Amino acid sequence: MPGSKNLLYLCLLLTVGVAWTKAETQRPITETCLVCMCEALSGCNGTAVCVNGACGLFRLTWDQWVDSGRLTIPGDSPLSDSSFTNCANDPHCAADTLQHYMVKYGQDCNGDEHEDCYDYGAIHYMGPFNCQADMPYTYESIFKRCLKRAEKQQKQQQATNN
Ligand SMILES: *[C@@H]1O[C@H](CO)[C@@H](O)[C@H](O)[C@H]1NC(C)=O
Repeated sequence: MPGSKNLLYLCLLLTVGVAWTKAETQRPITETCLVCMCEALSGCNGTAVCVNGACGLFRLTWDQWVDSGRLTIPGDSPLSDSSFTNCANDPHCAADTLQHYMVKYGQDCNGDEHEDCYDYGAIHYMGPFNCQADMPYTYESIFKRCLKRAEKQQKQQQATNN
């Protein structure tokens, strides 16, 4: 009997380990995309602030944070109320939260048969169940301009490397 109990623990540990590694390695949002999201959302202003309950560089909401598995900065408990604002106001924790969110909700919103940065921007701003809608004008124009600029820079870089 004690043997089978140990086996159960081992299986549980392995399952948790695999799930954790998967979430850790799946990072659908590129660095460029993260930068353009924060530019459109907050001007990438790192001042700790909440606007109508949406906090930090990426204006994360409590619901998104809970939905993404309550990631915390080191030393915080996932159960404490301040852990949300601490995470949202920490660039790494906030970005990781968005990564988890898109692993869960990533989809092709605009029907171009790719799941890409444009979709993630829409999912984050309008929610996974309304991401087909038009983005608000200001958000969309800053976001798209940033992505275009990044694309151009990447092409220039590739040209100089070749
Ligand atoms: C960043 O945000 C804070 C709080 O909203 C504001 O006081 C500050 O002026 C902003 N900084 C810049 C550079 O826009």
